[in-house]
Amino acid sequence: MREKSRFFCGECGYETGKWLGRCPGCGAWNTFCEKPVHKKGSYRKKTAETQQAVPLMEGESEDYEERFSSSFGELDRVLGGGIVPGSVSLLGGAPGIGKSTLLLQLANAVAKEYGTVLYVSGEESHKQVKMRARRLKASSLRLYFLAETDLLEICRVIEELSPVLVIIDSIQTTFHPELPMHPGSVGQLRECTAEIVRLAKLHGTACFLVGHVTKEGVLAGPKVLEHMVDVVLSFDGDRHQNLRLLRGTKNRFGATDEMAVFAMEETGLQQVDNPSAFFLAERAKGVPGSVVVAAVEGTRPVLVEIQALVCSTAFGSPRRVATGVDYNRMVLAAAVLEKRLGYALANQDIYVNAVGGLKVVEPAVDLGISLALASSYRNRPVDQDTVALGEVGLTGEVRGISSMEQRLKEVVRLGFKRVLVPISSIELQDRYQSIELKGVRTVQDALDHAI
Ligand code: TYD
Ligand code: MG
Repeated sequence: MREKSRFFCGECGYETGKWLGRCPGCGAWNTFCEKPVHKKGSYRKKTAETQQAVPLMEGESEDYEERFSSSFGELDRVLGGGIVPGSVSLLGGAPGIGKSTLLLQLANAVAKEYGTVLYVSGEESHKQVKMRARRLKASSLRLYFLAETDLLEICRVIEELSPVLVIIDSIQTTFHPELPMHPGSVGQLRECTAEIVRLAKLHGTACFLVGHVTKEGVLAGPKVLEHMVDVVLSFDGDRHQNLRLLRGTKNRFGATDEMAVFAMEETGLQQVDNPSAFFLAERAKGVPGSVVVAAVEGTRPVLVEIQALVCSTAFGSPRRVATGVDYNRMVLAAAVLEKRLGYALANQDIYVNAVGGLKVVEPAVDLGISLALASSYRNRPVDQDTVALGEVGLTGEVRGISSMEQRLKEVVRLGFKRVLVPISSIELQDRYQSIELKGVRTVQDALDHAI
């Protein structure tokens, strides 16, 4: 039983009591639709097919226990403990970064361990992928290949093979033949993804989609793609270096912000189990302008070397360049040194770099940046066995930071001897006998201890 209908514009949402040819709100023609207004009790009647609400915690606790491993412990961690059957993950990254390589290695490992895997490529031929597989020593006979871009064909093959895992490389080249839009267009992307998500849930097949990124580094295509899938991973790094970072930016089955480090080698991607050692491998000791800090990526602490170079400006206005650290935090650290400690930095160029390609933007690295700057300015090295932890405030005070214990454990593991910590963290000394904690109140305190 309906009361009066309401009418609204499909473009802008303008609502009226009667139908109009032209919307007074946005000026569009013929966009008005009718929306019935329901009175109490006038909704659909309950039938056998209607869904029932159930108490949320009723039934067995499942906790995705049927997850399976990707063979890369690091990737499993980013995924929240392995691959969930029926989940759809989107892997984005710049061209040539190693998306196809990573997924082919993953496909081979899963095929060896768990069953049929289908690798669909719309970008490379059978021959090309086979060559890569040889290089990666991917030899599983349960790994199937299909060079196809037609979504309905892909779906047919998925139904035929019923694999445990499907890789689609890439979602931008896949198209739905019943839709008039071009492959890669917003409509195609949305429809293809929706169909794949539906099929994955129906058959419990886990699915990885490769997504291209635009020049700005965002996933090409609408944000809606990211809403439709369960997991969004981004793969980045410098193409000229072999370091690759895999991050989870969305995860329905685990924490986001997890990070895994890989190295691109001759025979494919190798996971780096000990990123701190990796990032500190080429550290030159006893050199001015270098300080080690402990950053936290997701649940993982990583030690990174911060380097600073302060040198007089040759001409024009002084340069400030931050690579891998937050520009504003660097400028702030310099301003504090200038104002509170009397360093004359106004006519100096300043370069700060987080070594190894990692981005450390947390406030916890402030003290490290300040020390690196001071050390370079005074041309005196920071004690090489010291790690600096702390946020720096505008008055030059050193403030407490999060996840202190995680960071300290990593510092201990890598054999450092001393840590500069905010004064409030000094009580942790009892628990960490093998290192010396030095509580500092201000940047000046820290400088007195370390330089
Ligand atoms: P690829 O996986 O094709 O990148 P994407 O799919 O993200 O575009 O990897 C491309 C680069 O990786 C290529 O420049 C060569 C390099 N590579 C290696 O260094 N070692 C290897 O074993 C493989 C397979 C690739
Ligand atoms: Mg590729």
